[in-house]
Amino acid sequence: DLLKEIQELECLFTIDTAKLKQITNRFQAELDKGLSVEGGSIPMNPTWVMSFPTGYETGTYLALDMGGTNLRVCQITLTEQKSEFDIIQSKYRMPEELKTGEADELWEYIADCLMQFLETHHGDTSKLEKLPLGFTFSYPATQNYVDAGILQRWTKGFDIAGVEGHNVVPMFEAALAARGVPIKLAALINDTTGTLIASAYTDTKMKIGCIFGTGCNAAYMEDCGSIPKLAHLNLPPDTPMAINCEWGAFDNEHQVLPRTPYDITIDKDSPRPGQQAFEKMIAGLYLGEIFRLVMVDLHDNHETHIFANQDISKLRKAYSLDSSFLSAIEEDPYENLSETFELFQNKLDITPSLPELELIRRTAELIGTRAARLSACGVAAISRKKSYNTCHVGADGSVFNKYPNFKARGALALREILDWPEKNDPKEDDPIEILAAEDGSGVGAALIAALTLQRVKNGN
Ligand code: BG6
Ligand code: GLC
Repeated sequence: DLLKEIQELECLFTIDTAKLKQITNRFQAELDKGLSVEGGSIPMNPTWVMSFPTGYETGTYLALDMGGTNLRVCQITLTEQKSEFDIIQSKYRMPEELKTGEADELWEYIADCLMQFLETHHGDTSKLEKLPLGFTFSYPATQNYVDAGILQRWTKGFDIAGVEGHNVVPMFEAALAARGVPIKLAALINDTTGTLIASAYTDTKMKIGCIFGTGCNAAYMEDCGSIPKLAHLNLPPDTPMAINCEWGAFDNEHQVLPRTPYDITIDKDSPRPGQQAFEKMIAGLYLGEIFRLVMVDLHDNHETHIFANQDISKLRKAYSLDSSFLSAIEEDPYENLSETFELFQNKLDITPSLPELELIRRTAELIGTRAARLSACGVAAISRKKSYNTCHVGADGSVFNKYPNFKARGALALREILDWPEKNDPKEDDPIEILAAEDGSGVGAALIAALTLQRVKNGN
């Protein structure tokens, strides 16, 4: 009987309404701090994306997405028709070794993929006029211009020497030049900003862009007059400026998030300990690893050693379980959890008993629920800060799109935090709804390139 273990895990991982509210209050204060001259741990990076699209942008653009999982290249033509576009795209594998390899190899690989894309779709590239590119580079970057970005730090497990503290654009452009790739970078973009702009292209109620994927982050539109750290530039106070929050860094000082011993281990063993405290409790990169650490701990250290007398060497391998493993457990439709049983046998050579299967399922639920509820704190904090009582939030990423119940659990937490009254009709929309976003790193990147070139043309 593993009831005691389950109850202990419930205590560790459950976040009640009062705690959600406390986290949201601090979150809101930290958003303000990030915009201040002194700064805080949430970077709140100005992106130089200074308007929403009208829907009437036109032109042909390339978009490159270096998110972490895949490398994607698109060519997008924004047509005369309102909010309509054509897209062609290719995906390339992002070799795992590149993430912790040498900087030159990374840029060369990306330049090769771009060249391959152009050759496939345009044939002879020697006569091709340089195409404008929106480069979605989804890591925290200090941007003094829209077409530059000094990498603040790698996140999401990347660890490539010689890039942090440097503007990534010249490195990228050097690799393009060395291969004669006919491309001109127009804008360096975060995936959240791309998501915000792409979503607002088709739905003007969209006010926040979120990613719940390998990493976790959000962007929204601020007024320059409310960004004290830009005051020295004397921009008109009502000029809009998209802010890439980089909220994954929330609570790096460990003041409010209820971290478990497992979260502490994840942080300690990561390439950047002390960074991305919030992200490490929520994002897809970490969910399976949190689960794995719980399982190993219950095997090694608790009175009722789970999987007793079994060889758990496969389970001991760090980062061997990704969030799709947890999704599969949560999705197991059978009362006797037979799919979970098979998953453990096939992937881990472990034969769980029925009580163990029940513990496995509950652990997955607890980890997935905590992630969704914590995510809602960030959305609630931005909404409150901006007094958005009703709006849409555009969300993308593998966790949002594929993790079972993530959306419903997040929506419920938002309701608890913001004290919305009971619905009269279950079909009624929530005042703030988190909806699947339009393709941020494709059409969003193209739109940002278009808006940027328009701004340059207008001399702003
Ligand atoms: C994609 C977006 O769909 O989701 C990317 O186009 C974004 O810009 C990605 O980075 C995030 O999801 P994941 O799960 O791949 O990290
Ligand atoms: C990480 C990155 C951030 C990105 C997010 C989602 O938090 O630092 O830039 O937006 O992951 O991909």
